[in-house]
Parts: sequence; structure tokens; C-alpha cells
Amino acid sequence: MNRRRFLGAGAALLGAGAVGGLALPATARLLAEARPGRLLSSEVPLPEAFQVPLPVPAVLAPVRSDATADHYEITQRLARLEILPGLRTEAWTYGGSFPGPTLVARSGRAMVVRHRNELPVPSVVHLHGGHTPADSDGYPVDLLLPVGSSGAATSPGSPGSSGSSGDRAAGAAAGHGSGHSMSGMAGMAGMAGMGGMPGADGTGGAADLLRTVTGERTYTYPCQQRAATLWYHDHRMGFTGPGVWRGLAGFHLVRDDEEDALPLPRGERELPLMLADRSFAADGSFAYPAVDAALAVPGVTDDYMNGVLGDVVLVNGAPWPRVEVDRARYRLRVLNASNARLYRLELDPQPSGGDALVQIGGDGGLLEEPIAHDAVEIAPAERFDLVVDFSRYPAGTAVRLMNRFGSGRTEEVMLFEVSSRPVSDDSAVPGRLCTLERLDPAAAVTTRVFGFRRSRNAGWTINNQPYEPGRAIARPALGSTELWRFFSDVHHPVHLHLDAFQVLSRNGHEPGRYDAGWKDTVDLRPAEAVEVLVRFTDYPGTYMVHCHNLEHEDMAMMADFVVE
Ligand code: C2O
Ligand code: CU
Ligand code: CU
Repeated sequence: MNRRRFLGAGAALLGAGAVGGLALPATARLLAEARPGRLLSSEVPLPEAFQVPLPVPAVLAPVRSDATADHYEITQRLARLEILPGLRTEAWTYGGSFPGPTLVARSGRAMVVRHRNELPVPSVVHLHGGHTPADSDGYPVDLLLPVGSSGAATSPGSPGSSGSSGDRAAGAAAGHGSGHSMSGMAGMAGMAGMGGMPGADGTGGAADLLRTVTGERTYTYPCQQRAATLWYHDHRMGFTGPGVWRGLAGFHLVRDDEEDALPLPRGERELPLMLADRSFAADGSFAYPAVDAALAVPGVTDDYMNGVLGDVVLVNGAPWPRVEVDRARYRLRVLNASNARLYRLELDPQPSGGDALVQIGGDGGLLEEPIAHDAVEIAPAERFDLVVDFSRYPAGTAVRLMNRFGSGRTEEVMLFEVSSRPVSDDSAVPGRLCTLERLDPAAAVTTRVFGFRRSRNAGWTINNQPYEPGRAIARPALGSTELWRFFSDVHHPVHLHLDAFQVLSRNGHEPGRYDAGWKDTVDLRPAEAVEVLVRFTDYPGTYMVHCHNLEHEDMAMMADFVVE
């Protein structure tokens, strides 16, 4: 009742501003300043900022390499980590750490990753930004059940190699609640209730069962893609929010010759930075306002419908860390792995002359030319590849990385201490980084429109429909280019699997200052319309389009598209 009323009010309030975002009524303009989420306060005293060193996740070594691929193994398991000094937090981890180990891939060389699930819950691994065949993409009901689970197919390894997804669709879509005020939620809950296994209730066939495996699953990444900062994370239907919140996220870097040929900072002067806000319960565990503590039913309590914000800012899993830097250029690969929090990153103090954050790349790799920013706004799942020249600061300067969208403790992120050590620096940021192909709007064979809105009856929706596995919202032809227009009620970071896209326009105007290059996630502010061009390449099958506010995603703001 409560939730229904709330949804209804939201839809009514926002309805006016949501039509295309071309004319912004006053309410919508006000909302444009509003950022999603609600703060969940920790029940433990928060540590002082800038006390712990910045961890850098270890790079995972392959277990073997052959002529065609490098092979890796990761065990997903519980680990008791010291995240807040003196406290133990039980995390869901890839390989015992949070973030998980960093995978480093070489463009053009396949990577095969075998995941073993020793967690107490099913999991799904998605390589975000990966150009990946459908059967390794981490479709949200392609579950990997924990070792020793019974009642499911037990074939380890690849769940089949057809790459076609029509087979799994039929069974997964059938048999869920409808004509109900929260039909989408009921559908998701129903899935979870049967162990998340499509077909378990007799609606699916053998093909569906093959998509669920027990114990181990092998994901194959051909890596026919350019250098970029990717990440991998859990993608289980209805439970991505709690899965990532509890630690299931890691970096996956792709390198290539084009990028290696540039004189960019490297080695110790290349730092991946995973930003993630979290909250902690009195016993040190991660606090998360799940509607069902046992996680049988997806979603969060009504107050957190618009996203969960933590009051502790973690960078690479450490609260407000510090790192000593040389008076030299550094490459910072910034990933926002937060469930719902947006950041406006800025250095304090700014170096004289400003333009401290020189963006060289985005989600999909290098930009054509660097863009110098005073501040960078980063939504959940986005990546910004930045070069900062700390020689612009006097030795001994304490430079804070600030989040101007935060307040109180969440306004600070981490600290760079500029060392007085004499150093040399032969790095540079060339004025031209690469040549990018520009997708041509005239080449788009279809225009499709996707409304990202809270619906009166069905939670968070795309085109008024809550997620239902197997129901395709679009069927683009393999190899074709399409124009996709997204519009919003409130903030939604919209993400596509399979291929990166290029932003064509924002509210009928030029793309924004954070929209450059190839992207796979684009942040829609309230009552905005964003057009992107995307070309569907190489792999047919079922992929996802969804909001990357993980609470929105879990509460049904997701859809399948089928490349055929
Ligand atoms: Cu980062 Cu479909 O997700
Ligand atoms: Cu993705
Ligand atoms: Cu959203």
C-alpha cells in the first residue's frame, strides 16, 4: 500500500517532465539538481579520513596459456576483511579480496576465466564493457549455483556454445504473475523463490536447465576490442545491488599496441581507482536495506527505492585512503562502482591555472583528443581515464580528491600527498591520442525510444514494462547501426551490453562535456533525452539494456534485446 502510493505520487509528479525532456517545466528543472539515493547511516564510528594506504588490487596471473588463450581461475568465496580499521567485515569476494583481482587482457587475445562459486548464494559474472558472446555475457538468469547445490544441471564449464538465446527465452518468460500491481516484482520474486532457476517449475525445457550450472562455470572473452578500462561484477537477476555492495566487483583492463605506443604514465604511475560507498552495521558487516534479509525476495525497503548511498567512501576497498605520489604525471583509471551514488570529482587545492583532470579516455577507451576538466561527474558504472600532473603542485602539498556532490564525510574521497623526492618523468599527454571512427546518424536503420521511468504499478520500468527474462524490447539486426533515444524521469545511468555507443545529442543539443568518445553507460539527468548511436557487431543473441543504479536495476529497470 505504502509503496504503491509512493510510486503513484512519483509518477504523477514526474510525468510532465518526462516527455522527451525537450521542454523542461519548473518542477523538472528543480529535479535536475536532485541526485538519486538515500543515505544509509553506519552503526559504527567512522574512521578518520586519510589514515590508511591506498590498496592496489593484485593483477591475477593466468593458470596456463596456450596458443589461443590465457586461462584464469577465480574462486568466489566469503572472506573476512578489515575494511574499517579494527573491524571485520564479511564480504562476498572474487578470490578473497575486495575489489577482486585485476584481470589484464591483451586486445585480440582470448581470455578464459573459470569461476568457482563457494558463496552461499548463486552468482552471475558479467564483464562490463566486454564485447562478449551471449553465452559468456552473464545473462541475469544464467546462474552459477554454489558448489554442492543439488537439483540443477551439474555440467561444469561452458553452458553451451550456440550463442543463440531464443531457446532460453521461452521458458524463462512463462508463468509469472501478471495483472498485479507489482507484477514485475512478483515475477522476480517468483524466480528467486524457485532458486532463480528458470524451468524449475516445469515451464522451461532442457535448454533452460543448461543455462544454470553448479559449482563452476567458464566464461570466454574473445577480447576483439580496443584498450579500455572494464570491470566485472555480479549480475544475478534481482540481486545485483546486494551482490556488488558486498564485494563482487573487480577491474578488467584491456591493453593494446595503439595505447602502448603513447607516452602515457605507466607502471606505478598508473592507478586503477574503484570508488564505492558502503555502510556498516554494528557488527562490522555491510549494512544493506534489503526488503528481505534472507535475499529470497529482491529489492530494498521503500525508503531506498531510489538507490542506496553509503556514508563511507571506499577507494579500492579502503576508506578515504591516502597515497604518496611523485611530482609527476599519473594516470588514474576511475571507476564508479557505487550502487547509486554520483560523484563530482575535483582536486583541492586546484593547481594554479585549473584544468587538473585531463581526460584521455572513457568507458570504451581512448578519446581522440584529451579534454581538460576542473571537475568530472561520474555516474554508477562509468569510467574516466584521467591524467593528473602532480608536478604542478609544490612538494609536500596535500591534495584531496573531493566529491562536490557529497556532503559531510562523503564530500571527501582520498588524499594524494605530493612527495618531495626528486624524480624524472618522461610521460606526456599527446594532443592527439588516436583516431576514432565516428558513427554516422545517416547510417542508422532504425530509431527506437526507451523511457526510463518509475511506473505507477510496476516499480522501475523501461517503456512501462518491468524486466521479464525472455521478452525482447528490441531486435536489432547483426551488423546494423541504430539510433536509440533514452528519456528519463529521475537520474538513470543507462547501460548497454555487447557494444559501446556514441552519444549523439542531449536534449536536442550537443553531447555534454562528459559524453565524449565510446561509452557504454550514459547518465540521464532528470527529464532528459539522450540519443546514442550503436552498431551491433559480431555476436547474435540476447543482451541487456538497463539502468545501472543497482536498486533500479534489481527492481526491474532492465530489458533484453536480441541481436539477430
Ligand atoms: Cu555493469 Cu549489465 O552491467
Ligand atoms: Cu555491462
Ligand atoms: Cu535508474
